[in-house]
Amino acid sequence: MSGVAEPLFSRSQLDDRVTELAREMESWFGEDGLPPILIAVLKGSTMFLADLFRRISRDVSVDFMSISAYSARPGSGVVQILKDVESDLTGRDVVIVEDIVDTGLTLNYLRRSLGARHPRTLRAVTLLDKSVRRIVPVELELSGFDTPDVFVVGYGLDFQGLYRNVPDILAVRDVARLVNDPALLVGELYRR
Ligand code: IMP
Ligand code: MG
Repeated sequence: MSGVAEPLFSRSQLDDRVTELAREMESWFGEDGLPPILIAVLKGSTMFLADLFRRISRDVSVDFMSISAYSARPGSGVVQILKDVESDLTGRDVVIVEDIVDTGLTLNYLRRSLGARHPRTLRAVTLLDKSVRRIVPVELELSGFDTPDVFVVGYGLDFQGLYRNVPDILAVRDVARLVNDPALLVGELYRR
């Protein structure tokens, strides 16, 4: 590769770990009551959600939320709900499914917002945990990989909307070059 990005987690590592996460999550829930609801945060979590919940061998519901960082105060942790869940969460076992927890501001907001809707239990699972970047402490029941402080793309994660459908996770070593030319990696990552 060009040296701009290099492999961090391969598709087979992701596959194995996602299977383990699904096993672990199955142990969270009893058989009583309505099925647990997995709430994926658009758009980065969609690939993780798809692989995760097809490996959960019990009935689960899924729902989606879309949020954006509130642009007037970036980094403030104030986010806007662009699309809310459709389910009533009262009395339900709820799991937030995240692609990556970085500063923790997003998950912190989601836990407060969803926690206020009277779920029976509220948990969070993330594929990647950039724990060294945390600026607010946040509860996180399960994570796939502790991740170094590098910008990552692939397996749902994007740079300016690009690279979400790359099957592996790559670390961007030279973010400045990508900022300068966002499509720089297209040629080497996709066969035409
Ligand atoms: P937080 O609120 O700082 O924890 O950030 C959460 C969101 O930032 C994630 O859901 C991603 O959308 C985005 N994000 C953080 N780090 C990365 C990265 O390395 N690659 C792509 N997106 C990221
Ligand atoms: Mg996200």
